[in-house]
Amino acid sequence: MQKVGKMDLISFMDLGKEEIEHYLDSAQKMEGQLKEGRIEKREGIVATLFFEPSTRTKLSFQSASYRLGLDVIDFSAEGSSIKKGESFEDTIRMIDNYADVLVIRHPEAGSAELAAEYADSPVINAGDGANQHPSQTLLDLYAIMKMKGRIEGLKVHLVGDLKYARVMRPLMHGLAMFGASVKLASPKGLEMPREAIEEAREKFGAEIEETGEIDFSTADVAYVCRVQEERFKSKKEADEAKKGYTIKPEYLEAAKEGMILLHPLPKRDEIPPEVAASQHSKYLEQAACAVPVRMAIIKRILESRK
Ligand code: NCD
Repeated sequence: MQKVGKMDLISFMDLGKEEIEHYLDSAQKMEGQLKEGRIEKREGIVATLFFEPSTRTKLSFQSASYRLGLDVIDFSAEGSSIKKGESFEDTIRMIDNYADVLVIRHPEAGSAELAAEYADSPVINAGDGANQHPSQTLLDLYAIMKMKGRIEGLKVHLVGDLKYARVMRPLMHGLAMFGASVKLASPKGLEMPREAIEEAREKFGAEIEETGEIDFSTADVAYVCRVQEERFKSKKEADEAKKGYTIKPEYLEAAKEGMILLHPLPKRDEIPPEVAASQHSKYLEQAACAVPVRMAIIKRILESRK
């Protein structure tokens, strides 16, 4: 149970359509204000707690905080008392006293929810195992809106590790909620969980097709992710799953002119250099959306405390 009277952001699935629209509108305003250099400054401290590696998520949360005029304190498991055996609970309860918002990434599913139980400060889940990464899902939807002008009616092809990638299941849910049709392709054994597909179909009447082959010919958006090696039992198993999984330049030759290729990054062998160089590749523009979207999230969550 999360504590009453505070707003955490733990799962994208907890968000209703109106709330998502609020975040997307607010992020757009933030982007405008950033360009014009007129951000209303706030007071407070954001703590970033990363128990798992991160580049974009951590730095964009920190950048978003600084842009809002907030201070940032950073915890990384490597240089901390976790190395001396301090428990997750003690760590969270301690840092809760030092900050106004906690941004947490952890390899175990459910850890952000647990942190939200321990902390009086609001908690933002920056990725918990293979489970959720709600600020990434918001920024993915924002990037699609920004680049394609809408989500409704789009054909979106989700490709990659649909089983372990915490970005894929919530994205499918969000796309279905906003009226896109979704096509899924993954390496064998890394398919989207069946119940997630059924849920999106039942809740939103969404058109969701599963295909063995990657086929960009009808797509408006292709969203690709890497195989999440760190979630496998062994490197051997991960290597086996990855075998032959790559976005071939021929796939792009079949694509419509305006198709955008997105990726949450980091990208690995699945994006060969010819594909990276293609005019379809828009993942750096996508990553640039992280700051305004995370500003909108932090602003809303801070305001909820008043
Ligand atoms: C993603 C993550 O951590 O889930 N990265 C990110 O936050 N941009 C995707 C990934 O690691 O493959």
